[in-house]
Amino acid sequence: MKDNKYKKIPVFDISLSEKEKEFVNDCLNTSFIGQGSYVKNFEKEFSKFVNCEYGITTTSGTTALHLACKALGIGKDDQVLVSSSTNMACAFAVDYCGAIPIPIDIDKETWQMDVSKIEEKINKKTKAIMVVHLFGHPVDMDPVLKISKKYNLKIIEDCAEAHGVEYKGKKVGSIGDVGAFSFFANKTITCGEGGMVVTNSKEVAEKAKSLKNLSYGKVNKFIHDDIGFNYRLPNISAALGLAQFTYIEKIFSEKKRIYNRYKKNLENIRGIKIPAIREWATKYIMWVFNVYLDQSFPITRDELVKRLSEKNIETRNAFVPINKQTILIKKYGLFKEKDCPNANYIMENGFYLPSGNTITNEEIDFVSEEIKKLS
Ligand SMILES: Cc1ncc(COP(=O)(O)O)c(C=O)c1O
Repeated sequence: MKDNKYKKIPVFDISLSEKEKEFVNDCLNTSFIGQGSYVKNFEKEFSKFVNCEYGITTTSGTTALHLACKALGIGKDDQVLVSSSTNMACAFAVDYCGAIPIPIDIDKETWQMDVSKIEEKINKKTKAIMVVHLFGHPVDMDPVLKISKKYNLKIIEDCAEAHGVEYKGKKVGSIGDVGAFSFFANKTITCGEGGMVVTNSKEVAEKAKSLKNLSYGKVNKFIHDDIGFNYRLPNISAALGLAQFTYIEKIFSEKKRIYNRYKKNLENIRGIKIPAIREWATKYIMWVFNVYLDQSFPITRDELVKRLSEKNIETRNAFVPINKQTILIKKYGLFKEKDCPNANYIMENGFYLPSGNTITNEEIDFVSEEIKKLS
């Protein structure tokens, strides 16, 4: 085991292979560091992998979400129902369109959007539902599809943490109208920074493609079709993503190893809860290993993470949900802090453990033992 007296066990780390060096060197050798064939191939391979006809790379998961919303026509004063417990990129992407994110509480056991709470938040201004397949577990999509049909709403799938995940045999990202992936450094596949919009709609794909590239004119390049953005992913970044894609199954198997080891070690400790995996998650791919505490654990989450940090074990607390963000509460005046009690409970009691792909089994056992000692 790496001697943890000197070495921190980080929440995540990256392990790169010779393939990344080969592809990046190819960009350097050919001088195609801006746009080039790696962008096209990454879009082609990754969109095919998630069963979508179109893939449009972007500079981040945040810009992918923004493009997805824009391409669906979400605009001023529209409302989008969003899973409360998520990265604020989801809420911000909606806000960038002049629209308003409305938080939907999560299911306490799975941490995913509680789909039974969607309908009560629908009104005339509601235009879309943004589901977030959080931490590699899919949202229960059948009820979401049914509601979207009934009220004529669009569905945006945030798949930032769910590369390759399947709901009832269907790849996430291909179920709603549009999906958005992140390739940030801590994601399953990474470009350092990057993202991708995926869709089976030609219209949405064309709109996203144009908007991401400053909406240059089709006849006269410099007479623009719309107010566009520069969200172009560089070739050199796409080369990193494409290289990792060539061994994605190996990355998945490492994630499985980490999940199974932690689960076996921690599942019988009183007061430690592991988020549930539902039967509809036909392919669950852990992004990071989460736990939450119930009342029977002798110390609080904050005390526990402090004690782990004293042992050089890094952890990360659960998201502060949309309904707790003062900046959003003040701006819209449409929701309150206490609106999503389950998301609030997880915010106070949930956290994740070191889950980088290079973590050894001995390190996982060490982290688990330290938790056990405090239980
Ligand atoms: C669920 C979720 N959505 C969106 C994002 C934003 O992605 P990015 O950091 O690539 O902008 C993240 C985090 O990185 C995320 O975890």
